[in-house]
Amino acid sequence: MNAQLKPQTQAVEPLRYQTGFAQEFASEALPGALPEGRNSPQRCPYGLYAEQISGTAFTAPRHVNRRSWTYRLRPGVMHGEFQPFPRPAFHNRFDEQAVSPNQLRWSPRELPSADIDFVDGLLTMAGAGSARGQSGLAIHTYVANRSMQGRFFCNADAEMLFIPQLGRLRLATELGHLDIEPQEIAVVPRGIRFRVELLDSEARGYAAENFGAHLRLPDLGPIGSNGLANPRDFSTPVACYEDVEGDFELVQKLDGQLWRAPIAHSPLDVVAWHGNYAPYKYDLRRYNTIGSISYDHPDPSIFTVLTSPTDTAGTANIDFVIFPPRILAMQNTFRPPWFHRNVASEFMGLLHGAYDAKADGFLPGGASLHNCMSGHGPDAATFDKASHADLSKPDIITDTMAFMLESRWLICPTAQAMEMPERQRHYQACWEGLQKQFDPARRDFE
Ligand SMILES: [Fe+2]
Repeated sequence: MNAQLKPQTQAVEPLRYQTGFAQEFASEALPGALPEGRNSPQRCPYGLYAEQISGTAFTAPRHVNRRSWTYRLRPGVMHGEFQPFPRPAFHNRFDEQAVSPNQLRWSPRELPSADIDFVDGLLTMAGAGSARGQSGLAIHTYVANRSMQGRFFCNADAEMLFIPQLGRLRLATELGHLDIEPQEIAVVPRGIRFRVELLDSEARGYAAENFGAHLRLPDLGPIGSNGLANPRDFSTPVACYEDVEGDFELVQKLDGQLWRAPIAHSPLDVVAWHGNYAPYKYDLRRYNTIGSISYDHPDPSIFTVLTSPTDTAGTANIDFVIFPPRILAMQNTFRPPWFHRNVASEFMGLLHGAYDAKADGFLPGGASLHNCMSGHGPDAATFDKASHADLSKPDIITDTMAFMLESRWLICPTAQAMEMPERQRHYQACWEGLQKQFDPARRDFE
C-alpha cells in the first residue's frame, strides 16, 4: 500500500484530489477528524460517527479488497422507509425479447425541453446479467438540464461508470466532489451515495453499471511497467461534508428497481475518511496510446482503459476501451479498424469528433451495438478511402474520442432501445456500397 501517512486537510487547499488508483487514501475536512491509530474509537473526534463501507467481501484477497472508513455527522442507517419508485425507462430487464443479430445504431438523444435531472434522464439501452448473478453490465444514456435538488442517489446493484459527452458534471459524493467534463470519466463505487449536479445548462452522456468484479487497470504484460492508463493520472476526491437538514429524498437502486425514502439531512456528511473504496476520475486525453509501428492494426484490446475481469483468464465481464487521437504509420496495411466478427459483444459511443472507421452516421452522443458474431467494420466510403490512401506518410488522427464497452456476454438491447425513434433503421446500408473486387486474373490487384 502506498499510504498517505499525513492526511490532507481543507486547510491546505488548493488540493482538490488525491492521485493514484485504489491506493490507501486518507482525507479530512477538519483537522484531526481522522481518529489516530484505530478505525472505531470509543468516541470519535468532533462527535462524529464511524461507519465502514465495504465493497468486497471482508475476506477478499488483499490486492482486490476494497473498503473505506467514514467519519460522519450521522450514520447511513438514518432515513425513512423505502417505497418503490417506478422509473420505467431505467431498469435491468434484459430478457424482454430475443436478441437480434442485426447491426444496430442510434442517433443521439434529443436534449430535453422540460426540467429533468440525471436520475429522471436515464434511459436503459442494453445490458446483460444482473446484480443478483454478480456478473454482467447495464448500459444507459442520460440527458439532463438541471442538477438533482433535494435528491440523493445510491446504486446498491453496481459501481457506475460515467461517460459524459456533453456538459460538465459535478458528482457530489459521500467521499467528496469529482468534476468531470466530456472526454473524462468517473467511477462511483457501489453503495456510495451521491448527487449529480450540472455545471453547464445541459448534459448528455452514457452511464454503465458493472455487476461483476470491480473495474481495474489491465495488466501490461510485455508492454512493461508504464503505458495505457497510468495510475498517477487517476484522481480521488478529498473529504467535503454538508451539514444540511431539510425535506430530502434518498433514491436507492436495488435488484434492478428504484426505491425512495425520505431523509431529513444530507447524507453527504462525511468529515473524514480513509480507505481504498472511493470514487475516481480519469482524463481519457491522458491515455498513453500504443499501436503498431510496423504493419497491421492491433486488436482493440490494446486500447483498454479499465477492465472488469471474470474467472476465465483474459475474458472480461467488461472492457472499457477507447479510440483516442493516435498516429497510424503502419506500412502496406489497411489502417482503419478492419472487418471482423467477434465472440465478444461491443457497444460503442462517440464522445468527440469523428470515428475513423465510419464516414458518417455515427455521431457524438450516438451509439452502436454489434453483438456476438455480427459482422461489422468500415463503411464503404471509409474502405475505399483507406484502400487508396498514401501510406508514405503517417495518418495523424486528431479530434476524436470514441469508446467501447466490450463484454463476453450477449449485450441485449431493451425493447425501448429497439423502438426509439433515434434508432437508425437503415444502418446496414452503410456497407451496401462495398463492391465485389475479385478478379482471378489479377493476383497483383492494386
Ligand atoms: Fe468491433
